[in-house]
Amino acid sequence: MPQTPIMGDGLPQPLLEMLGDQYFVYGWDTSDNSEALARSVGVITYGHPRVDGHLLDRMPNVRVVSNHGVGVDHIDVAAATARGIPVGNTPGCLDKATADMTMALLLASARNVVIGDTFARGPEFTHYDPSILIGHEVSGCTIGIVGMGRIGKQVARRASSFDMPILYHNRRRDEEAEREFGAQYRSLDDLLRESDFVTLNCPLTAETKGLIGRRELELMKPTGTLINMARGPVVVTADLYEVLKAGSIRGAALDVTDPEPLPRDHPLLTLRNLVIAPHLGSASHKTRHRMLTMTVENLAAGLAGLALPYQVHSN
Ligand code: DGY
Repeated sequence: MPQTPIMGDGLPQPLLEMLGDQYFVYGWDTSDNSEALARSVGVITYGHPRVDGHLLDRMPNVRVVSNHGVGVDHIDVAAATARGIPVGNTPGCLDKATADMTMALLLASARNVVIGDTFARGPEFTHYDPSILIGHEVSGCTIGIVGMGRIGKQVARRASSFDMPILYHNRRRDEEAEREFGAQYRSLDDLLRESDFVTLNCPLTAETKGLIGRRELELMKPTGTLINMARGPVVVTADLYEVLKAGSIRGAALDVTDPEPLPRDHPLLTLRNLVIAPHLGSASHKTRHRMLTMTVENLAAGLAGLALPYQVHSN
């Protein structure tokens, strides 16, 4: 049986295994005369590379774009839709894992987990000293959640079990979150002013690109911490560096950066008041397995001309 040609950029091994022998996966080749572009009937992405109308116009046989992940800021969904190409993603399955990671970074920053780990392994740790690395107890601290969607709500659930008063900012008020978690709606500026921990859990869109720059960071409490679980470009990297270096806020914890990854000699990486992770929000075995399954299901449905089980609709 001939293999179905699809295109993907260095797809992870577990995904290749799940695709099996049925598919032939071309690497990401957008050069002139690219065989991959000409022959592929499907595209798999995972947070990158960019898929826009210009690219799709060069792929005459493509019937579906399937993203291994929920964020589709790298895909021009409107352009795909206009060409009759459905776009699939993996919503829902990663909310809890991403909220867990939000809390992990929040706690790691508040309680010096990363600096403590380095210290505990180093030559200077020769006796227990109760005066070092004293952090902030999160109970009773206010969390401000930017983006009260599925992931934001899971963060709220966890924060409320840590006895954290919850503020949120969202495009729309969310009465369910207000009822269930006692979350209080704030304008972005007020949320930044009043929160001890600000977590970004919104998608990257034209409205959220550069949402947090110098002005917004300077509204935060000097004791405040910023956690970015959204996408790197939601925060202006150069402004974050300046504000952290000046100590105008206590710290930041980033699961995502702009660019991602940061160049290895980027000055942000030298700061001790920064905790950073390599985009691990959804990286639990259970969640990643579910994401693989949904990605392959969307691909197969699109190729069969069926409605995608998890389709992204353009706004
Ligand atoms: C997502 O699903 O968008 C996460 O960032 C993992 O890629």
